Amino acid sequence: MTARAETGVVPVADVPVQRLTEADLPAIIELTADRDWPPQLSKWRLMFAAGEAYGVPDPAGGLAGIVVLTRYGDELAAIGMMVVAARHGRRGLGGRLMRYALRQAGNAVVYLTATSYGRPLYERLGFRAIDTSVTYAGRLSAVAPSRDGVASLRRVGAEDLAAISEVDRIVFGADRAGVLATMVTFADEFLMLGSPADGYGAAWSLEGTRVIGPLAAPDARAAAAVIRGLADGWHGPIRLDLLGRHADLADWALASGLAARGATALMVYGRDLPGDRSRLYCPATVAIG
Ligand SMILES: CC(C)(COP(=O)(O)OP(=O)(O)OC[C@H]1O[C@@H](n2cnc3c(N)ncnc32)[C@H](O)[C@@H]1OP(=O)(O)O)[C@@H](O)C(=O)NCCC(=O)NCCS
Repeated sequence: MTARAETGVVPVADVPVQRLTEADLPAIIELTADRDWPPQLSKWRLMFAAGEAYGVPDPAGGLAGIVVLTRYGDELAAIGMMVVAARHGRRGLGGRLMRYALRQAGNAVVYLTATSYGRPLYERLGFRAIDTSVTYAGRLSAVAPSRDGVASLRRVGAEDLAAISEVDRIVFGADRAGVLATMVTFADEFLMLGSPADGYGAAWSLEGTRVIGPLAAPDARAAAAVIRGLADGWHGPIRLDLLGRHADLADWALASGLAARGATALMVYGRDLPGDRSRLYCPATVAIG
């Protein structure tokens, strides 16, 4: 006898994945709280602006699981915010959501940062780990090692977007103009050094922390100058997510008073990541890439 015949309730396994909207935010927040994730409302605003949220409703109320897919044209897509309610965990729902997101992504190269909970599942689905992403957070020390270049920073406006998007297309390897345009109004600060090729970055608020990202620069020195500028006049904590390949900027972050927090694995599905990723220092968020 099926669970439905026994209880009259449709099993979660039989509920199709559906597209979520901002009207689902209260249910999303309730679900993420189930896994002890904070509400992070500003991050969700960004995710709904840039990506597509999918979920499986729980017939007993609320959501059983969610995932967010952010597409950059047909070539590249990021997956993030995979969460399954603990009461539905380890029954295949995470795998079903991930396979659904991968189908939606078509032929794009797909990437994500995996917690230790998700990594074995993603490996079985065909993702491979290519680097480690570490969060650095805290207050920048008053006397940071270098303020070089801060003076030449200027605020990015809508009129700069075409030039920044052109450089970003090479660095990121796909068209991210939509996310960059969102940053002009969404971010607390969006700055560039001289010209876009010299470095640019945004910082936005997440529950009292200024999150640095996206951030692109030709080298760690320029990246540090943009971060300094983004933190200028801000007395609270900042956060940046750096890949292991950016050890030089990580050293700068530690020497500047930030502390290393949790690490996740950068994982890729399909071909290699496009772009000149040596110049891509921070994602807009780890969830949207
Ligand atoms: C990661 C997460 C989304 C996985 O969701 P899930 O629904 O438990 O995933 P699945 O059930 O498809 O797979 C999880 C495990 O259960 C196993 N499993 C699946 N169906 C099963 C079943 N019927 N019986 C027993 N085990 C089962 C899978 O083989 C997998 O094993 P593994 O961890 O050894 O690889 C969930 O653990 C979660 O929300 N964690 C907290 C938030 C988080 O870390 N998100 C990931 C961000 S990258």
